[in-house]
Amino acid sequence: MLLYQNYYICGTSETNIFFSVMKKYKRYLVTSALPYANGPIHIGHLAGVYIPSDIYTRYLRLKGEDVISICGSDEHGVPITLKARKEGISPKQVVDRYHEMNKKSFEDFGIAFDIFSRTSNKTHYETASEFFLKLYNKGEFIEKTSLQYYDPEAGCFLADRYITGECPHCHYQAAYGDQCEKCGSSLSPSDLLNPKSTISGSQPILKETFHWYLPLDKYETWLKKWILEEHTEWKPNVYGQCKSWLDQGLQPRAVSRDLDWGVPVPIEGAKGKVLYVWFDAPIGYISATKELTPDWEKYWKDPETRLIHFIGKDNIVFHCIIFPAMLKAEGSFILPDNVPANEFLNLENDKISTSRNWAVWLPEYLEDFPGKQDILRYTLCANAPETKDNDFTWKDFQARNNNELVAILGNFINRTLVLINNYYSGIVPARGKTEGYDNEVLAEIKALAVATGEAIENFKFREGLKEAMNLARLGNKYLADTEPWKLIKTNPERVKTIINISIQITANLSIILEPFLPFSMKKLREWINLSNFSWLDAGKTEILKPGHKISKGGLLFEKIDDETINMQIEKLLKTRKETEKAPLTVASLKETISYEEFSKMDIRTATVLEAEKVPKTSKLLKLKIDCGTDIRTIVSGIAEFYEPEKLIGKQILIIANLEPRTIRGIESKGMILMAEDSKGNLVMVTPESKTENGSIVK
Ligand code: MF3
Ligand code: ZN
Repeated sequence: MLLYQNYYICGTSETNIFFSVMKKYKRYLVTSALPYANGPIHIGHLAGVYIPSDIYTRYLRLKGEDVISICGSDEHGVPITLKARKEGISPKQVVDRYHEMNKKSFEDFGIAFDIFSRTSNKTHYETASEFFLKLYNKGEFIEKTSLQYYDPEAGCFLADRYITGECPHCHYQAAYGDQCEKCGSSLSPSDLLNPKSTISGSQPILKETFHWYLPLDKYETWLKKWILEEHTEWKPNVYGQCKSWLDQGLQPRAVSRDLDWGVPVPIEGAKGKVLYVWFDAPIGYISATKELTPDWEKYWKDPETRLIHFIGKDNIVFHCIIFPAMLKAEGSFILPDNVPANEFLNLENDKISTSRNWAVWLPEYLEDFPGKQDILRYTLCANAPETKDNDFTWKDFQARNNNELVAILGNFINRTLVLINNYYSGIVPARGKTEGYDNEVLAEIKALAVATGEAIENFKFREGLKEAMNLARLGNKYLADTEPWKLIKTNPERVKTIINISIQITANLSIILEPFLPFSMKKLREWINLSNFSWLDAGKTEILKPGHKISKGGLLFEKIDDETINMQIEKLLKTRKETEKAPLTVASLKETISYEEFSKMDIRTATVLEAEKVPKTSKLLKLKIDCGTDIRTIVSGIAEFYEPEKLIGKQILIIANLEPRTIRGIESKGMILMAEDSKGNLVMVTPESKTENGSIVK
């Protein structure tokens, strides 16, 4: 019996064939990924994280649940220091600028956090330090020394992003220490050929350093049970990613870095070391709650709190594996009950990218569409990347507004308000005897309200929005079928019933669409004078009683014309041209060599005799070459840039004394000289006029 004290038992019908036992929570703690304060918020952030979390929070608040919604700026880590270096300002200046800007964007879009804090403040430093110390004192960390890249000129260790070099897979020259943006492989700095520090341009050296590691392997068995057995209800994309991490086996993870921007490691002998950003940032959720309420422990430590993390897919491992392991190691915190991560949103069929300026930024959107936050909220939810990556297009934005918000929702509300004002001076008429069709509609109001709520509870926000919009569809159909304007003279009693039902639909819409379209629904509730309302009223069919006075109303949404949309599309096309034209970032100079070193290279002129593609490769050509002294074969990765036939007879330059290499089973003797631009395009280097094969280049 005791077991059931904290559980509701819901029977579905009198027959009670099915029971579902749902845990009952006393309160909710909703967190949304702390955005890096290194740039403005764009539609991808909104669609992936903040709109879903806002819908969920607004819904719970409407139900009268005890809920707090936590967010803030993530102000540490390489994303911030990189941005500062790029602009020649301090990290502090970067985070101050974007923290304020992003806080305002969220307010402007009605994303109603209870607090939007930041990780550079005092409470956070204290909270993160205490958390580290607690784990440290419990002996939860292991200390390890390892070799890491160090920039001898700049005098500092290099984060992965600060090292560039040649990708070992595709030979792209400007790959980062953590990833090659050309071929997409994920790398570690030691994989790079010819690594270079982006700070000084010098060649980094490997140097010993020590760090504290959280032994994730120790938590593997527990995590497997907790996620793979006890959270099978998590979204398939989230569950799948966790499973693949867990199947590969977990390794200890460093929780500190050699950097001067971040929360200092709070122990002696840790000078120059800060907490790794992914260690301190999630603790930011806790610090922000502390700032919000002295009752913070109730939200973080009482098992009757339901903790939900809203994040994008690139954050899954941190929120489902690493942060839970940290919380578990600490010992006094609850764990997330669900982590409904979304996939990514693309823009006009192209990956959203801050560095390529390929995004719709919130501040810019509001300049172009003042007061139209709800259209964007609607489009981003209707098209949210809940189960797979999705695309935002301006045409779709226009269509959703014109064909759905204007033609379905706005139209129904406007017709109802016009009719009630024309026929009854805005006073809600009493419902007379209802017919079968009316009763069906009344039942459907309830069903759609319930379906909307259930979808939201299950993190299916697209579905929830669709169910809610179906209520507006139902209203339009009801008016079109019953045609009250034809009956007003002949059957006024019937018209009263129809208008009463239509106004109940309107009142229901103003409640069940509130989490999705808060600005418009607030306006609507003002029009219909509905001030006391809660989600518990949703589905009721006497929300507005006979005699209730409504005011005039107006148009909730207006059409967006082609010209407006074309302007947005042109703006994007211009951005694309500008980034394509952007000056090449020329690679910095390599280290100085002596003449002697140079003269060891035997560079000669040679002529291509034969050229053919290497089968089953896309990049390689096999060339037969006359280099004066002999005829030899060279394999070269230029197939993307040159047709084999066009090369025959061309005079080129080769390094003739390069150690032979076997590539795809072909022995290649020497290398053809090419010039490569910053985008990785190759052109051959040729003598200015024809000369004898085998001439020495010096
Ligand atoms: N700043 C991270 C990102 O934008 C998210 C941090 S979420 C937190 O990807 F848990 F660390 F706070
Ligand atoms: Zn690559």
